Amino acid sequence: MPDSASKEQAQSLLHSPVTLGALRLPNRVLMAPLTRMRADAARVPTPMVAEYYAQRAGAGLVIAEATSVSPRGHGYPNTPGIHTDAQQAGWNAVTDAVHAAGGRIFLQLWHVGRISHSSHQPDGGAPVSSSAVKAKGRVVTADYKQEDLPVPRPLELHEIPGVVAEYEAGARRAKAAGFDGVEIHNANGYLLDQFLRDGVNQRTDRYGGSLENRVRLCLEVAEAVTGVWGADRVGIRLSPSGTSNDMRDSNPREVFSYLLRELSRFGLAYAHVTQATEDDLKRGSPGIPVADFRPHFKGPMISAGGFTRETGEQALREGWLDAVVYGQLFISNPDLPERFALGAPLTEPDKKTYYTPGPHGYTDYPRHQA
Ligand SMILES: Cc1cc2nc3c(=O)[nH]c(=O)nc-3n(C[C@H](O)[C@H](O)[C@H](O)COP(=O)(O)O)c2cc1C
Repeated sequence: MPDSASKEQAQSLLHSPVTLGALRLPNRVLMAPLTRMRADAARVPTPMVAEYYAQRAGAGLVIAEATSVSPRGHGYPNTPGIHTDAQQAGWNAVTDAVHAAGGRIFLQLWHVGRISHSSHQPDGGAPVSSSAVKAKGRVVTADYKQEDLPVPRPLELHEIPGVVAEYEAGARRAKAAGFDGVEIHNANGYLLDQFLRDGVNQRTDRYGGSLENRVRLCLEVAEAVTGVWGADRVGIRLSPSGTSNDMRDSNPREVFSYLLRELSRFGLAYAHVTQATEDDLKRGSPGIPVADFRPHFKGPMISAGGFTRETGEQALREGWLDAVVYGQLFISNPDLPERFALGAPLTEPDKKTYYTPGPHGYTDYPRHQA
C-alpha cells in the first residue's frame, strides 16, 4: 500500500478495529444483507454464491442475505433457505470460502410473512401474517410473473410457538453451517415488522394492541435465537423509518425506542438500525435520525442507508455508530474497504442485474487495479 494510503488509513475510523459482541472486526466497513436471488431451485446457495461472498471477505463483517427459516417464510424465487440439509451444506461452503479468505460472516434469519404468494407456499395457501391486512404492491411468483400481493391469513395463537421454533431451528442450522453469528431480520416490512407495527397488526390477543404485546414475538425470537448462539453472536435489524412493503406505524419513534430498550437486556452483538432511504422519504417516511435511537440501546449500534465514506466516517466521529453498513456499494466494489483506504474510485452498481441469474453483475465486478 502506498505511504499516502497508509496515512489516510491510520486516521480513518472506518479502518480501525471494533468489537461487536464476541467478534473483533479489523475494520468498520460492514457489508449489508443483500438479496440477489441466485440460489438454485431448491433454494440452496451455489458455488457461485460462495465465490461472491469470498470476494467481499475484506468487510469487517459480511451480513449474508435474508435467508428463510422455513418453507412458509419464502416470498421470492431463488432466495435461499436454511431449513433443509442441502441448504445448510450450501451455506457451509459459503462460510468456508469466506473464512478461507480471512473474513467473518453472519446469516440474516428471515420470514417474509405476508410478502409472499401461494406459489411460494408449501401448501399453496395464503401466506401468514399478524392480521388479514394486505400490503399494497406486487409480488414475483415462483414462475417469475408479477401479481398483486394477496390477503394474508392471520397466524392462530397456537401456531406462534411453531414460528418461534422455526427461527430457533434456522439459528441451529446456521451454527452447524459455520456462520460466526446471525442477524434477526425485524426490518423492511417482513413478518416480525408485521407484528410490531400497528399499520398491520390488528390482533386483540397477547400479540396485538399494546406496545408490550406487539414486541412480544420479536422478543420471543430473540430469546430463542440467543439461546442457540449466545447473545454476543446475535444482532438484530430494525427499520424505524422504513416504508418498504407498505409498512407504517402511528408512532414509530415510541415503538422502536421501546423495543430497543427491551432488547438491551439480552447483551446482543449489535442493533442494526437503518436510516430512511430516498425512496422511504418519497413515500412519506418520518425519517427519524438513527442517532435519536442511540440512547435507548445498551450495546453496539450499526446502521445502513445511503452512507458514503465521508458520512460513515462522520457518524463514527460523532459517536452514534460503532460501525457502518454499506449495501449497493459492496455489490459493485467487492474490495470496498480497500478502495476507501486508498481513496480509489468507486464503481457504480448496475441495478438491472441486482436480481438476475448468473455471474453477470454478481461475481464479475473487478477489484481495484492500482
Ligand atoms: C439489491 C438489494 C437487496 C437487498 N436485500 C436485503 C436483504 O436481504 N435484507 C435486508 O435487511 N435488507 C436488504 N436490502 C437493503 C440493504 O441492506 C440496505 O439497507 C440498503 O440497500 C441501503 O443501503 P445502501 O444505500 O448502502 O445500499 C437490500 C437492498 C438492495 C438494493
